[in-house]
Amino acid sequence: MAILPPAAPLLDWYDRHRRVLPFRATEGAPDPYQVWLSEVMLQQTTVAAVGPRFARFLARFPDVAALAAAPEAAVMEEWAGLGYYARARNLHACAKAVAAAGGFPRSTAGLRALPGIGPYTAAAIAAIAFGEAVVPVDGNVERVVARLAAEETPLPAARPRLAALAAGFMTDAAARARPGDFAQALFDLGATICTPRAPACALCPWRGGCAAQLRGIQAELPRKAAK
Ligand code: ADE
Repeated sequence: MAILPPAAPLLDWYDRHRRVLPFRATEGAPDPYQVWLSEVMLQQTTVAAVGPRFARFLARFPDVAALAAAPEAAVMEEWAGLGYYARARNLHACAKAVAAAGGFPRSTAGLRALPGIGPYTAAAIAAIAFGEAVVPVDGNVERVVARLAAEETPLPAARPRLAALAAGFMTDAAARARPGDFAQALFDLGATICTPRAPACALCPWRGGCAAQLRGIQAELPRKAAK
């Protein structure tokens, strides 16, 4: 059942409107260390706040070997202000494991085994750094997919269904050819057009293919279970 629209219009939109972000490679293959670092920083910190901190962190710890070799206190000091300090401790433990193994595992399954790397982060690194055909699902992606499919089941119950729908994008050859760009296009769409309130549907590359918009219920989705 073709519930979701084709990937091509989103990728075309991304080619024209992709956000230039400090942690996004501008040319060549993305560095797995930088992708990993930015995705961990972005777990609970906004894109705007991550930008300068990412650059500063990289200047101090330019690669995974440098981070692994650093004293824990130096890593914690560099993380100061970013919050969720368990992330910094996991980051350091992860760097040591990766340095000892001689590099990052290249698959979601291998990445999942590392400290501090959950399903979202593993999929984001695998797609962006290694081109694995997976769709990382964060809150932005859940919102976009809930709207495209007009999924009315509230969160969190809808989560498995939304993840399955998102995974379905990878049956589309255009998405499979560019998994990292596809993931980042979804993030950008969720951040700039398919926003939580007052989505800018007139500018959306998927306008006309969005079931929620066709019914006029896009701003109500995803629904959330009453607390
Ligand atoms: N949020 C989490 N990861 C992101 C990325 N790679 N680009 C933009 N926003 C993000």
